[in-house]
Amino acid sequence: MSNTFYITTPIYYVNAEPHLGHAYTTIVADVLDRFYKLTGAETFFLTGTDEHGDKIVAAAEKAGQSPEEYVDRISQLFRSLWPKLNIGNDYFVRTTDPQHKETVKYILQRVKENGDIYFSEYEGLYCFGCERFYTERELVEGKCPDHQTEPQPIKEANYFFRMSKYQDWLVDYIHQHPDFIRPKRYRNEVLSFLNEPLEDLCISRPKSRLHWGITLPFDENFVTYVWFDALINYVSALGYPDGGLFKRFWPVAQHIIAKDILKPHGIYWPCMLKSAGIEPYQHLNVHGYWNVDEGKMSKSLGNVVRPLELADVYGLDAFRYFLLRDMVFGLDSEFNEQALVARINADLANDLGNLVSRSLTMIQKYFKGVLPDPGVPEGTDEAVKDQALALIDQYESLMKELGFHKALMAVWELIGGLNKYIDTMAPWVLAKSDRERLATVMHHIFEGLRTISVLIWPFMPESAEKIQQQLGLARKGSEIQLNDLRRWGEERPVRPIIKAPALFPRIESKKPEGFPGGKGLAKEGRGTGETGKKGAEKKMDRISLEDFQKLDLRVAVIKEAEPIPGSKKLIKLTVDAGDERTVVAGLKGHYSEQDLMGKQVLLLANLEPVKLMGVESRGMVLAAEDDTGIHLIVPDRETVPGSSVK
Ligand code: MSP
Repeated sequence: MSNTFYITTPIYYVNAEPHLGHAYTTIVADVLDRFYKLTGAETFFLTGTDEHGDKIVAAAEKAGQSPEEYVDRISQLFRSLWPKLNIGNDYFVRTTDPQHKETVKYILQRVKENGDIYFSEYEGLYCFGCERFYTERELVEGKCPDHQTEPQPIKEANYFFRMSKYQDWLVDYIHQHPDFIRPKRYRNEVLSFLNEPLEDLCISRPKSRLHWGITLPFDENFVTYVWFDALINYVSALGYPDGGLFKRFWPVAQHIIAKDILKPHGIYWPCMLKSAGIEPYQHLNVHGYWNVDEGKMSKSLGNVVRPLELADVYGLDAFRYFLLRDMVFGLDSEFNEQALVARINADLANDLGNLVSRSLTMIQKYFKGVLPDPGVPEGTDEAVKDQALALIDQYESLMKELGFHKALMAVWELIGGLNKYIDTMAPWVLAKSDRERLATVMHHIFEGLRTISVLIWPFMPESAEKIQQQLGLARKGSEIQLNDLRRWGEERPVRPIIKAPALFPRIESKKPEGFPGGKGLAKEGRGTGETGKKGAEKKMDRISLEDFQKLDLRVAVIKEAEPIPGSKKLIKLTVDAGDERTVVAGLKGHYSEQDLMGKQVLLLANLEPVKLMGVESRGMVLAAEDDTGIHLIVPDRETVPGSSVK
């Protein structure tokens, strides 16, 4: 079979604006689409909007617009959001598209010709929120489990789809294809629904009650039930029945949904496909819910998290990374802004950001940005290579099983491995003693970074491409595939290796006011420290300007940074502050010696000299401390050492 991949998201209702939940599903689809591109597959990625039915008419009325105007407006909100989140869907389907309507009619006709649609009077309990009939058994304490309202008894003549006919076939099919619905918990859930007799599905609504839908091809007094209409988007967008896209991509179709719409996708849809003579999809991938404040997001609770606002505040790639790293696919997650900040600072600013910045600085400094040859690798170098090559296979199988958080953890093991390799190899020492070993080590670091840049691309496309640009690679994004990575050392930079500004600046814990998410950190003031240390109310004795002028504050540049034997906190710095002097600073654990070299800092130069751990300290380097660590205060621009601070 040709190497193809087809991924879909649910088509979202246009009765609400896009929120974190919609963004998550669509980002997952984008990550998978990009991953399959890295495997060399030709991919097709579909998303869109679901625009028919009672709910939409009600929302349009509330907005004072006609259904047509309203659906155009909200659909556009979804359509224009996706590129801003770097989502590269190939097509955007709308259920009001003429092509979609034609396909729905075509399938209805086929199913009818197959003897699977009949007309009947039905009296039942109807939930207007869900737009469907409920059986007594499905209700919880007499109420719709989704809307917590009592469904209304209504009597109506309608068309029904003979879904019951396919029950045994579906049970067999799920047993024969253990990965048809995954993860397993949702497969089991579907099988347990199917333990009970399956009822036929009411697939029409009389026009006397609802106009806003697709007219049945065999009775113009009725429109099609929204789910029967909506599910067909997955094939109408491919041009079913005749389109070439359908032939190429349908056999490898994978849907992504959350658990709320498991039943229509796990039961109605395979039965509809079977009846229409279409093969079932390949996989239904079901994820859990993002909850906020331990519950569902809802407009009335005021806790709707808007994806664009988050991406604007924290950076798009950091936001995408967090969603995929924090949620175990299949399980629920609690959205928490504090966890987002912690991840950005630890995983992105510290681990990955530092690795990239120190590596590029060293290649630039020691080899003028030109990648050295690998020379003769030793055991420690081979170990880095082996770890990177093993990671590619592990990553590939984890991604295929939707283990996104595990795939990222595995990549971060390599990032940790490389940081450790640098610390152990101490290239800054080799630079003085062994240029050949230095070349081998820097070569391995380069290759490790190249591997990482490709593996993080599906999650953080922009940052990955920036790294690839800084590494001087000729290709970027999906142009470098997993198989290219397996050829270790084959791809050399075509431009000098450059160091650019930090990829992921640390986020300070003070949050912008009015952050979305209801009870966000900003509003509660969490994370701003209990002591009021950083607050405006900090109580301190006032000093006069005259006193302040007694301080000899200067810009200094760090020439050397060395550990002080036996000290857990202190680092000995040799600085140029207009004069050369040693200063002892408690920066260990917050900065590596290597990171400190060449940094400009602020120095309190006329502090009484002291001896710390046997080293004379003439001055104090200024730093700020918050609950994420110690941060040096540095001049905004390169400044002549010794310049005074006023
Ligand atoms: N229109 C139907 C789907 C038809 S598909 C043929 C629909 N639309 S929806 O707008 O309600 O979208 C539901 C989907 O949005 C979920 O299945 C999930 O993909 C996403 N999410 C909405 N809220 C969510 C969370 N709180 N958490 C995670 N995803 C959620 O149902």
